[in-house]
Amino acid sequence: MNDKSWSKSLSSDEQVSKIFEWRRGFNIIYLISLGMDLGLFKFLRKAPNSNPKEISESLSLHIPYVEVWCKTAFAARILETDNCVEYRLAEHFDKILADEKDPSFLGGYIKLGTDFAAKDFEFSTTAFRDGSTVPFQNRSNHFADTVGSAISGLHVLTTHKLLPSLPGMKQKLKTDCNILDIGCGTGRLVFRLAKAWPKSSIVGVDIDNTGINIAREKLNELQLESQVRIVQGDVIESGEQSSFDAILMVEVLHEISPEVRQETIGDIFKLLKPEGWLLIVDETYPSETEDYRKAEYQFPIQTAFEEVTWGNIIPTKNIQENLLLTAGFTKKIGRKIIGEGFTILEVQK
Ligand SMILES: C[S@@+](CC[C@H](N)C(=O)[O-])C[C@H]1O[C@@H](n2cnc3c(N)ncnc32)[C@H](O)[C@@H]1O
Repeated sequence: MNDKSWSKSLSSDEQVSKIFEWRRGFNIIYLISLGMDLGLFKFLRKAPNSNPKEISESLSLHIPYVEVWCKTAFAARILETDNCVEYRLAEHFDKILADEKDPSFLGGYIKLGTDFAAKDFEFSTTAFRDGSTVPFQNRSNHFADTVGSAISGLHVLTTHKLLPSLPGMKQKLKTDCNILDIGCGTGRLVFRLAKAWPKSSIVGVDIDNTGINIAREKLNELQLESQVRIVQGDVIESGEQSSFDAILMVEVLHEISPEVRQETIGDIFKLLKPEGWLLIVDETYPSETEDYRKAEYQFPIQTAFEEVTWGNIIPTKNIQENLLLTAGFTKKIGRKIIGEGFTILEVQK
């Protein structure tokens, strides 16, 4: 008998079921990835209630394989059908899997798994023996772009909800807010902010050449040079001291190597104007044994595993708060958990 609240006894059959469930999950992730690569979701979004023959002829695919794909997707509740002949997307998947522009789109997150995590896991047998890493930076345009796409829902949330909800910020955004986006990657958040708040100025900074080059091309294409600046390098190079009203870090704190984290948060403190806001959207690693099985920590725990060979370490609540306090942020730190387990930290200088 085990009286620990996080541990209950499971039968052998229940343990076996878990293995089969995870194995199905593995296949379904690849089924979705394949559906994206072949344009199956987009086709069914445009032409619901199509049969495998119509789908295959239109996309130049092999009919018997598409039939099996459709039946498997129906079993997994990704597709619906009344007769196993004509198929349509199950509710909400037109947005979640077939519309890159929708804030609920999760195709980027799926591709991050099949196109990149799968390769990192292959490399893990070597890495676990010698401790080597493959860092985030300088991988490929496809990688940088897929990461940006995987996070795009958080960009929408930050632009339209989290940032304007900070005290005094909505008015400032409408008039002349100076915003710094740290770890801006390919600049998706920077350009979204620029579009939503045309009277505000935005600087994006990142150490990654690949992301920054994509961001610079986009800046050129959008001709937003008067409103947006993209900087490649260290955070402190992004502006004058006390020059920003708001500094953002979306999925960045856990990517900054622990050796330079304190210095970076110290630089952020210097760059903020008095009463300026630091808004961090990131993940928090559990620190108590009972936390590891709580729903809110499942996503951060998986991220930490997926990114361990990138050299990333997700900070605990205590580490996050000590970093801020040591840097000089002595006001109350706002903290909430949203969605699948993202932590929102808000603190004023
Ligand atoms: C997961 S990506 C997030 C990108 C972007 N914030 C977004 O939402 O699309 C993390 C980014 O943090 C950047 N980064 C890591 N350490 C950094 C540092 N010390 N200074 C600036 N950027 C850094 C990485 O290069 C990478 O582009």
